[in-house]
Amino acid sequence: PRPLIISTDPGVDDAVALVLALRSPEVDVRAVVATFGNVGLDATLPNTGRLLALAGRPDVPLGVGAARPLVHRRERRAGHVHGSDGLGGRAAALPEPVVPVAGAGVALMARVLEEATEPVTIASIGPLTDTAILLAARPDLVGRIERVVVMGGAIGGGNVTGVAEFNVHADPEAAHRVLAQDPGEGSVPVALVPLETTLGCAAGPEWVAALGDADPVGAELAAMIAPYMRFYRERYGRDAVALHDATALLECVAPGSLTPTPTALTVDTGFGPARGASVPAEPGTRPVDVLSAPDVPAVLDAALARLTARP
Ligand code: BDR
Ligand code: CA
Repeated sequence: PRPLIISTDPGVDDAVALVLALRSPEVDVRAVVATFGNVGLDATLPNTGRLLALAGRPDVPLGVGAARPLVHRRERRAGHVHGSDGLGGRAAALPEPVVPVAGAGVALMARVLEEATEPVTIASIGPLTDTAILLAARPDLVGRIERVVVMGGAIGGGNVTGVAEFNVHADPEAAHRVLAQDPGEGSVPVALVPLETTLGCAAGPEWVAALGDADPVGAELAAMIAPYMRFYRERYGRDAVALHDATALLECVAPGSLTPTPTALTVDTGFGPARGASVPAEPGTRPVDVLSAPDVPAVLDAALARLTARP
């Protein structure tokens, strides 16, 4: 199995993504680093530990990621989407959390890279703070990264502001550091799963019911999704939920599930209304692979098959 590091900010869709990764035989999850994001690190860290326990994987090292963005104070959270506990009100019902590894989550990421004998994929499904710090602090390890798969960015409309997607808007300077690289040695391949793609891969009630019927872990995820589904109904008028981070994780476990279009992108880090927007990069920037999903049913089926597979 391919080695994988996950940087996450649970989040209902992060929870689904984590279980998807942990149940996929194609990958070996070497570390999970919790960061601030949907809610504060004080909640995402224990909740990530609870999710590892729920999935029966207390052996996976849990890292303590960033509590705030690189440069500026954070402004928004997404408790209205994911519940004030980040997990649709289900956190208290989950098993006792796994204890995090001492030290910084970025040091844990670096250690995994140092020890790996094959290239490591990084799934960045929260604010990009820790991934940016890793790339900046340990350029010697960049060659050990297979690629960074980022759930983030919005080519069209955003979900935090009219133009900005949540993970990028949560730390635009970090997202800029990861997305807008000089080409050549010292840069790392990046694949971006933007909001358009994840909104297109929304899961309907039958998908959620099949997840819930699979086993107790699936039932717990389905219970987390229920209030998230109500939010989607009110906000988008749709009877379906975008499990953004799970779509990005599927690409990590089954590369090629999504279709790449190389695009030179950067992030607006100004303080105008476009802060956090994905915008065309200046010539000479290394392109990122913007991933789309031409076959949505195939994506949803592939994700469900892995989520409901017996561990
Ligand atoms: C992203 O923002 C978060 O709310 C989700 O967990 C996902 O990572 C979607 O914009
Ligand atoms: Ca997330």
